[in-house]
Amino acid sequence: MTRTLLIDTDGGSDDAVALIMALRASDVHVSAITVVAGNVSVEQATRNVLCVVELCESQTPVYSGAAKPLLRELVTAQWFHGFDGLGDHGYAPMARRADPRHAVDAIIEAVLSNPGIEIITLGPLTNLALAINRDPRIINAIGRCVVMGGAPCCEGNVTPAAEFNIWVDPEASKMVFRAGLPLEMVGWQLCRGSAALNQQDISKILALGTPLAEFAIRSNSVAAEAYHTQTGDHGISLPDPIAMAITLQPELCTASSMRYVDVEASSDLTRGMTVVDRLEVAEDERNRDLWEWATKRQVRTRVCWTLDVIGWKAALLRSLA
Ligand code: BDR
Ligand code: CA
Repeated sequence: MTRTLLIDTDGGSDDAVALIMALRASDVHVSAITVVAGNVSVEQATRNVLCVVELCESQTPVYSGAAKPLLRELVTAQWFHGFDGLGDHGYAPMARRADPRHAVDAIIEAVLSNPGIEIITLGPLTNLALAINRDPRIINAIGRCVVMGGAPCCEGNVTPAAEFNIWVDPEASKMVFRAGLPLEMVGWQLCRGSAALNQQDISKILALGTPLAEFAIRSNSVAAEAYHTQTGDHGISLPDPIAMAITLQPELCTASSMRYVDVEASSDLTRGMTVVDRLEVAEDERNRDLWEWATKRQVRTRVCWTLDVIGWKAALLRSLA
């Protein structure tokens, strides 16, 4: 049976590769791509998504959404993805335009007309939070929601405490994590080390000789340098494609657990931190008040702890062939 998927993205260079994976998957119908501000402005992100959709010769509708976080100013990640979000190589859509409807309306409409739909978010959670707020009926109609974001029990990539997508709009993230959706969290810790593409992986991809393979590597040229600057590691780290691989093939997440997860939105030091009750202490007397919102309704998130690295790289290679 064909699965229906909606992708919410902030149009960065790793988002682009994730979009290719979904648009090329034969058992998944991508019903809509909604765009949010994050890595770059929402206008630039929309152009980037249209460019990828064209490259894949897909007719999937693209909807532009929130231009800034719910309560804060937008902080982009152009230092990581390039000024245009795709490594500054001059990529632009030739003919495709975005649908005039707003992404938030598109999310609500897609969910209500496709109960059980799967959603994957690859950027800040602003669009999804707005959609939930406007029409809470969607909460029970979403079959699965995979979030690329957070850093469960480990260091962040934008501050010592937080990962970019959650940090950019912590208020939206908090709403989404507390909403009671069937949430799965693919955190940034899964995308480092051996999961990043090494020189051999990159050579294998380029040897495919396809326009998609070439685009996937070239559009991430600035990101590869930035990843080295940030972590000291060489290679291309691809958080969004890893989240997409797990969405398409859930077995690639080799260990996960259902945990209470909350997002810090008030502190400056730990803004956007994903606080995971890994040892299940939230129901203890001393934590009862703070975690009552979760424990009372049993609002848990599936946290993915480990990745089948070989399987993920094979999935990527197949999609670019
Ligand atoms: C996430 O932040 C963005 O820079 C990437 O596109 C990815 O969604 C990784 O922290
Ligand atoms: Ca992204």
